[in-house]
Amino acid sequence: MNLPRRVRIVEVGPRDGLQNEKIAVEVSTKVELINQLTEAGLSYIEAGSFVSPKWVPQMAGSDQVFAKLATDTNTIYAALVPNLRGLERAMECGVKEVAVFAAASESFSQKNINCSIAESLERFKPLADQALANNIRLRGYISCVVGCPYEGSVDNETVAMVAKQLLAMGCYEISLGDTIGVGTPASVEKLLARLLEEIPAKKLAVHLHDTYGQALANVLTALQMGISVVDSSVAGLGGCPYAKLANGGAASGNVATEDLVYMLNGLGIEHGVDIKKLIAAGNFISQKLQRVNGSKVGIALQ
Ligand code: HMG
Ligand code: MG
Repeated sequence: MNLPRRVRIVEVGPRDGLQNEKIAVEVSTKVELINQLTEAGLSYIEAGSFVSPKWVPQMAGSDQVFAKLATDTNTIYAALVPNLRGLERAMECGVKEVAVFAAASESFSQKNINCSIAESLERFKPLADQALANNIRLRGYISCVVGCPYEGSVDNETVAMVAKQLLAMGCYEISLGDTIGVGTPASVEKLLARLLEEIPAKKLAVHLHDTYGQALANVLTALQMGISVVDSSVAGLGGCPYAKLANGGAASGNVATEDLVYMLNGLGIEHGVDIKKLIAAGNFISQKLQRVNGSKVGIALQ
């Protein structure tokens, strides 16, 4: 198998996971989770988002979370920002890396950020300029890269167009979001093959939700195609509040970080994470949320 020697894990549980919780999670619990993840060796953690609190009340305390995070660590604590206002709030908290989020589906873009794809890209340009002028690194997400909860299958050409525009405005990496987890190794391979015609593998990451149980298989497909940055969520927490399924259900969280780390260990791929400490962090947050751990490895090894 052709596989990368090392994978960079982007832990999104504290943001993608906790944004979707029905019950309010205390700032102290979020901070404790992020500290445990840092202690486990995760070098990049998306710790919150500076979106409208009316749209996503669960992330309203992100400024308090960032204020309490350690500054003497090598771990990058990143935040999601939808507009200039979000960037300014992030900068007030001293955040050094932010992510903008666009979509490859018009309906999802409207539901999630209340504007068209083109409007969102226009909105991100001044944000990108201001971030880069202040030495803040910028990551770009694209949602619904294989399927949309409102429109069904999504054209690879739209994903390629959005990815190129996000790169052109200064994103160093594009995280490809299978928001509702409908992708299979076949559709993920086709999408990546198309994108790799124009974009180097080192500028792409995968962000694969596990709604249909395909996430780990899809990650392996991406690794075999040269992708070496994988987003994942401790205890498989999460989903997007604006990604409702046709049957009224909700999309599941990202591939669980514990399951990803276990697979990388088996493949002999470096990642820098201590699986025991990671599982302890997953158990901690699952207990706080009073739910079964969403990671199979977390359950098997506890
Ligand atoms: P809008 O209503 O069109 O914008 O929302 P607006 O400019 O008219 O603002 C509405 C109100 O929000 C105003 O307050 C603004 O001040 C305030 P009011 O005057 O009514 O009191 N506001 C803000 N407050 C704090 N911080 C801000 C901010 N911006 C405006 N940054 C907007 C547009 C983009 C703001 C809104 O739609 C929004 O916040 N959407 C975010 C939705 C979201 O967070 N979704 C989940 C994250 S994306 C995701 O999970 C997918 C991903 O994981 C990848 C994948 O899986 O596919 C990344
Ligand atoms: Mg997501």
